[in-house]
Amino acid sequence: MKLRSVNEVLPQTKVVLRLDLDLPFSDNTILDNSRLHKSLPTIELLLEKKCKLLIIGHRGRPNGVDEKQTLRPVYLELMSLLGPDNESLIESVFLPEINLEQIDQAMAINQIVFLENLRFWPGEESNDPDFLAPLTTLCQAYVNDAFAVAHRTHASITLWQKLPGFYGLSFLDEYSHLETLTNSPHPFTLILGGAKEDKLKHLDKLISVCDQILIGGKLPQFLTFTDSKILPATLTPDTFDIDAPSINKFTEIINSSKTIIWAGAMGYYEDPKYRNGTEKIASAIANTNAYKVIAGGDTSASVAKLNLKDKFDFICSGGGVLLEFLVNQNLPAWSK
Ligand code: 3PG
Repeated sequence: MKLRSVNEVLPQTKVVLRLDLDLPFSDNTILDNSRLHKSLPTIELLLEKKCKLLIIGHRGRPNGVDEKQTLRPVYLELMSLLGPDNESLIESVFLPEINLEQIDQAMAINQIVFLENLRFWPGEESNDPDFLAPLTTLCQAYVNDAFAVAHRTHASITLWQKLPGFYGLSFLDEYSHLETLTNSPHPFTLILGGAKEDKLKHLDKLISVCDQILIGGKLPQFLTFTDSKILPATLTPDTFDIDAPSINKFTEIINSSKTIIWAGAMGYYEDPKYRNGTEKIASAIANTNAYKVIAGGDTSASVAKLNLKDKFDFICSGGGVLLEFLVNQNLPAWSK
């Protein structure tokens, strides 16, 4: 399917720009800012066109307004990435509320207006048609460069239904890689890990797309669906990592695969004591000649730490979106 590029946005337009702002944090320190880096070309292109940007996105899965999950540090990080040279040129402001009058005034004097975490309010996840109405009143175009949430039927993802919709450069790049992936050679191995149980929800459909599904991280504890193609790891006694026999078995399967998708760390990667499984699996994948894809912010951050990022053919910004795409190519960010 052909998605309209941000290149087609007219100069001097007021644009709602949806970005992947859900960065990995430790307390209030950003651990990895790759998601901002990937959107810089789109932001810079729009700034060159003298567009005004109303930037929106989410962080984490908060229950209501929660200062611990504010997007303010992400806003500050983005402004510093846009460069000290730009500081005096780009007027910007962070707004903690969605208020028509405030946004209108802010857009009159700033080139970038950055809104607080949309998931602080229920309208985002319930896809309430009124939730983002102030944005559609004030802006003339919507650009989506948030591929990691393209599978979510949330208000900020379905805005293309209310405003002329365009897609950011990194979104289009990820989309074209995923289209290619559907024709990638077999054996096709999917490795799932991390802690988000919802990665397991499509296993019944994924077994018809994949030859093997290897499961580590916290997920073996949640597994209820079984199939001969599914291989859950056994965990170390403290359950924070996969054990040595599982590492060996997974490595053997990795070595005979022609396509490998890896979404989620094998253990509690944040603590150096539990990095063994993730590091061994990362190296095993990196050393094969297979077509290799990493999915998700945390997985790519762990691979970056090991200096193995360049060994992968494609880094998809979200694990969830990649899995949804494998089973259904018609996602809410572009479905018709
Ligand atoms: C991600 O981190 O992959 C995205 O932000 C998706 O977040 P979600 O699974 O909470 O929608």
